[in-house]
Order: sequence, then C-alpha cells, then structure tokens
Amino acid sequence: KNQVDLAGKKVLVTAGGTKETIDPVRFLANHSSGKMGYALARAARARGADVTLISAPTNLNQPKGTELIEVTTAAEMYQEVMNYQSEEDIIIMAAAVADYRISEVATNKIKKNDEKLELKLERTKDILAKLGQLKQPKQVLVGFAAETNNLLQYAKEKLEAKNADLIVANDITGADIGFGASDNQVTIISTKSKRKIPQANKLKIATQILDEVSKLLEEEK
Ligand code: PMT
Repeated sequence: KNQVDLAGKKVLVTAGGTKETIDPVRFLANHSSGKMGYALARAARARGADVTLISAPTNLNQPKGTELIEVTTAAEMYQEVMNYQSEEDIIIMAAAVADYRISEVATNKIKKNDEKLELKLERTKDILAKLGQLKQPKQVLVGFAAETNNLLQYAKEKLEAKNADLIVANDITGADIGFGASDNQVTIISTKSKRKIPQANKLKIATQILDEVSKLLEEEK
C-alpha cells in the first residue's frame, strides 16, 4: 500500500484532556492520556503529512517531526484550533475537550468551610461544531464520539450535527480500551460507510483511521 499517501497534506490533530480551572489549586479534568491523538499525529507524519498537534497536558513525548502546540483549557484549545483551521487539509479532533468549565474561577484557594461546596458550570464552545460550520471544500473533518451507551446512534447524530466527514466512535466503558489504555476499539462512520475495527493498539487504530481519511481524499480528487 502506498504509505506516503499523505505527503504534502497539512494535518491538524488535537489530543489529551483539557483542564478547567476551579481555583489556583484545583481543576476539572478527564481521563484522557493523549495516546490516541499522539498515535494519529505519529501515523500521519509517517505517511508524509505536515502535522500540527494541539495538545492538552499529557506526559507523552512530542512525536518526531510534528509541530506541538500545548494548551490547557478548552478555551485555549478553541483559540489555537481556529488559528490553524483554514490552512489544514485534514483536521482530527481526538482531544477530550471539556464540555463545561467553571463559571466563576476563584482567585484565592476555596477554603473548606461548609459541608457542601457547589460549583456552577457553564458550557464551553464546541470546537468540532464550529469546524463543521467553517469546513472548506476538500477539507476532511474527523470527529470522535466517546460514549458509554447508544454508541452508533450518538455517533451518527454527531456526524450530521457537526457536519463531520467521519466520526470515530469508541465505547469507553471497556477496561482495556479508550481513555488511558494502550488499545482502542472503534467504529468509523461516514454518511456512506460503517467500519468496525476490532481492539488493537492505538497506533494500529490510527493507521486504519488514516486509511479511511485517505479514501475520502481520493474521492474528493
Ligand atoms: O487520550 P486517550 O487516553 O488515548 O483516550 C482516547 C479518547 C477516548 C480520548 C479518544 O479516543 C476520544 O474518544 N476522544 C474524544 C473524547 C470526547 O471528548 O468525545 P465527545 O463525544 O465528548 O466529543 C465529541 C467530539 O467533539 C470529539 O471529537 C471532541 O474532540 C469534540 N469536542 C467536544 C467538546 C467540545 N467542547 N469541543 C469539541 O470539539
């Protein structure tokens, strides 16, 4: 197989889990390790792409030959993705972007006075949805769906609602797949196809995802 099929293509990948500040000491986060996104960045680079990786905090090494942009919050990730959006051939949103952040970030550490502490949360901007609105002709937009139930139904809804070309759906309830795991198991859906990929390490999964992206690029020629 022609394994430099992404030569000359600009690929943007997001990875990792954003951290939303509560006060100078605490934050709201999720279990994303960044492995899925870093695997996609590595695999795209290996296929000749010009890769920009926008990453929330992880303890992973920067994939060789990629440009790494480090962010912390969903708002920062939104900003950086928008900086790159118009020049990318392929955008892959593998990051676990917080859906909610703290409405009022405390400037001083919240002291433990009352028995209960209630935090008010507000929605963050939906980066994938915005990318779907801004999508350029010939640009390939890949979203993910991290679900615990109704996987295919929710993934299909996302495909349409976000105007994505592909949704990579992963059921994150399995112990050895999804968040933090070395392996994943995904179903890649488009308006015309549904491809179930059995459990494998994330680099192998990344290769299969890029194979589907490659097919779309071929079709758009
Ligand atoms: O990082 P790992 O430990 O390797 O774990 C991999 C993973 C489970 C994080 C990854 O495979 C995955 O599923 N990433 C998407 C996680 C997620 O936020 O899924 P979601 O269904 O909540 O979001 C749907 C899509 O919208 C995703 O492409 C997400 O990047 C995007 N999104 C979500 C919220 C938001 N405010 N803006 C977004 O763009």
